[in-house]
Amino acid sequence: MVVGKPIFTVEQIQQRVRELAEMISKDYEGKNLLAVGILRGAFMFLSDLVRAIKVPLTVDFVIAASYMKEATTGEVKVYYDVREDVNDKDVLLIEDIVDTGITLNHIRERMLQKRPRSLKICAFLDKKERRVVDVPLDYTGFEIPNEFVVGYGLDYDNRYRNLPYIAVFRKSV
Ligand code: IMP
Repeated sequence: MVVGKPIFTVEQIQQRVRELAEMISKDYEGKNLLAVGILRGAFMFLSDLVRAIKVPLTVDFVIAASYMKEATTGEVKVYYDVREDVNDKDVLLIEDIVDTGITLNHIRERMLQKRPRSLKICAFLDKKERRVVDVPLDYTGFEIPNEFVVGYGLDYDNRYRNLPYIAVFRKSV
């Protein structure tokens, strides 16, 4: 198993996080921002992002995992849902990576049923060419090609999440 060279370095990640936080801070001025991190992968991105956002906010989490049966069908299991009442909140879902879109779409629809005041999505990485379900992304860190990546919260078999950069992962050389 091989972790390649960084495709996004610590500096590139931090720069992009600052840019996203600036956009979000502008858009959410005077609003009631609730940042909802989708765990486990988004923990690192969420913690960097909220520290760089300059408007008041609250934080909550959703813990979810998807299980692929076939390439186009996935079952999403939610292990923990937000505790905050979202009716008066401008919810921003924060995701590490969007691949088929199945996980995020499921969480988005579930959140919409709770009738938040508004709902937007911020995803750090977007593997656009893999998309099966169309899910609207309001803020995106980087688009990446169809490669499996690890680091900055992203895992292979729950490992490599602690790498401070993002690298391509291959099972064999
Ligand atoms: P989706 O439901 O197919 O969009 O998958 C989203 C989830 O799959 C992400 O939240 C990740 O947990 C995982 N995932 C997809 N691609 C990668 C990758 O390249 N590296 C690590 N995890 C990934």
